[in-house]
Amino acid sequence: MSAETERITDPEPQLEDRIDQTLRPTSLKELIGQDQVKQNLDILISAARKRKESLDHVLFYGPPGLGKTTLAHVLANEMGVNIKITSGPAIERTGDLAAILTNLRAGDILFIDEIHRLGRAVEEILYPAMEDYALDIVIGKGPAARSLRLKLPRFTVIGATTRLALVTAPLRARFGAVYRLDYYDQAAMREIVRRAANLLRVEADRTGIEEIARRARGTPRVALRLLRRVRDFTQVRADGLINQQIARDALDLLAVDELGLDDVDRRVLITVIEKYNGGPVGLATIAASISEEPDTIMDVVEPYLLQLGFLDRTPQGRVVTKFAYEHLHYPYHLKEDQPRLIP
Ligand SMILES: Nc1ncnc2c1ncn2[C@@H]1O[C@H](COP(=O)(O)OP(=O)(O)O)[C@@H](O)[C@H]1O
Ligand SMILES: [Mg+2]
Repeated sequence: MSAETERITDPEPQLEDRIDQTLRPTSLKELIGQDQVKQNLDILISAARKRKESLDHVLFYGPPGLGKTTLAHVLANEMGVNIKITSGPAIERTGDLAAILTNLRAGDILFIDEIHRLGRAVEEILYPAMEDYALDIVIGKGPAARSLRLKLPRFTVIGATTRLALVTAPLRARFGAVYRLDYYDQAAMREIVRRAANLLRVEADRTGIEEIARRARGTPRVALRLLRRVRDFTQVRADGLINQQIARDALDLLAVDELGLDDVDRRVLITVIEKYNGGPVGLATIAASISEEPDTIMDVVEPYLLQLGFLDRTPQGRVVTKFAYEHLHYPYHLKEDQPRLIP
């Protein structure tokens, strides 16, 4: 993302977020929220330990910044195994994957971020590796070529993706467990902000923590970033203690509103309202109208607006809801030809 479109509420990792790694929970116990996922993982871990086997292959999906990478590290810690980290776009050739696979030891975790971006040929190497712990390699070329099957140690793939729909069916079928990460509720968000404030030795009272949590769009990565920005603001403008008023002033200055909407979210909604009479309108058209990447709208903007109930998906396209009109102080008139929502 270019500097001019850099968003304070961007849930994708930015350089300044490197510090977050020191804030990463390292055990299931330390992880806040996502109770259902945690319970399921607990069972998965216990079962694998009991059978003295490697962990089942696990796929995490959901919007960025919710803890997919964190969970992969937690699983490695809990299992007491090594974790090797890579990503779909980083594995360019089948040879790259073969090299990674042959270096794994029994029980190791191979974390593949953005797994939906794996190339076809690479993916095909991964299937037998995940299923049979086998690596098929071809030696030589032309008629003299022969295929060789190498045995691999029993290892675990943990995949992460923001786009489950783009993960091919055969790849998805190789995962024993698939978990969806959802936006965190307010109680969990407050806990995450409180924990980070403690670890960073930032002084914040209950109201200040609440204000930051409320505006962080249910996303831990955004919460941590807002906390750092509010801390900076406090050190410059106030006495160092973050309370509600200071958090409000700081976040207003950053143009993050009470619901965590920023300029890009507002532009999406206002464009649909003003140019397309509230919709329905296609996502690509919206993206073009505000000169944003369709991917950004799809991965980052839309899921949160859907979650807030500000946007609806219909077969004809996206529709801005009454709630959004009210939030943005636009008059709402129910349209005659308003499309019926998908049940
Ligand atoms: N459940 C959680 N509890 C506390 N902090 C969390 C939790 N999930 C994520 N975080 C924090 O949020 C940051 C972003 O999480 P990350 O795992 O990198 O997200 P993703 O991989 O889904 O984009 C992490 O650095 C971590 O500090
Ligand atoms: Mg990640």
